[in-house]
Amino acid sequence: MKRILITGALGQIGSELTLKLRDIYGTDNVIATDIKKNDSEAAESGPFELVDVTNLNQMVETAKKYKVDTVMHLAALLSATAEAKPVFAWNLNMGGLLNGLETARELNAQFFTPSSIGAFGPSTPKDNTPQDTIMRPSTMYGVNKVAGELLADYYHQKYAVDTRGLRFPGLISYVALPGGGTTDYAVEIYYEAVKNGQYTSYIDKGTYMDMMYMPDALNAIIDLMEADSAKLIHRNSFNVTAMSFDPEEIASSIAKYVPGFEISYNVDPARQKIADSWPNSIDATAAKEEWGFKFEYDLDRMTKEMLEKLRQKL
Ligand code: SER
Repeated sequence: MKRILITGALGQIGSELTLKLRDIYGTDNVIATDIKKNDSEAAESGPFELVDVTNLNQMVETAKKYKVDTVMHLAALLSATAEAKPVFAWNLNMGGLLNGLETARELNAQFFTPSSIGAFGPSTPKDNTPQDTIMRPSTMYGVNKVAGELLADYYHQKYAVDTRGLRFPGLISYVALPGGGTTDYAVEIYYEAVKNGQYTSYIDKGTYMDMMYMPDALNAIIDLMEADSAKLIHRNSFNVTAMSFDPEEIASSIAKYVPGFEISYNVDPARQKIADSWPNSIDATAAKEEWGFKFEYDLDRMTKEMLEKLRQKL
């Protein structure tokens, strides 16, 4: 990775990944793109171009203009929004990915795109979910993610594009809010803890999902992309996770730092149904063995930092 084009650079992951990559590889070597510009640091601190990922020509021309050798394709709809607008989700998630892969093929560039725990489904083993297992998701988002993993592997096998991916769990950060995901509750809860000392969860108690703090997720992306290609048995995509909890456990962790913090429930059937179709906890052994995946933040360490940073921010 020396000159990197990022799509969806102003989204949940991109807002932070762009800045981290600029620190490591140099500001001018990281080209942020998104469908709209805003005044965030990711948009203002270095090269930025408007790119609609459903427009192949625009993506390829932008990549050529900057002579990139890496494409990081982040633009996508998250699970709950995709479920509400399935046709739009298919067109954006699959059309955008295909264009990202075509751009990488044309420029002979390395390629990264995130997959998700959403790629698993109701018939997947729920606990310690293996790297290689049944993948029959019941959501449009999951269908997109499984098809996307296969497509990225296909580009590697057929065209020798160096494609790599991670199955991310819910990602938690104080910087950019996620939008339209099922795991968003685990971000909202910290904002509400700081603002109001309480939170009403749309996900029910007893619903376990994997999660990870954003700094660990960014390191995982960079470590995977820098890993020796010869050591990769898998490519698209690796299970990664740092913790698994339900709403009661994250609430208990918050209560250690916010005395009297209380959680109540008003379950959203649509998002609960999505959560129920996903694993309780996934196994990241393949990522550890093939490229040394590691993480630093467990639930309490993340909680402490999230609350400190949000108190400063809000
Ligand atoms: N955070 C994502 C979502 O909830 C999971 O990949 O949609």
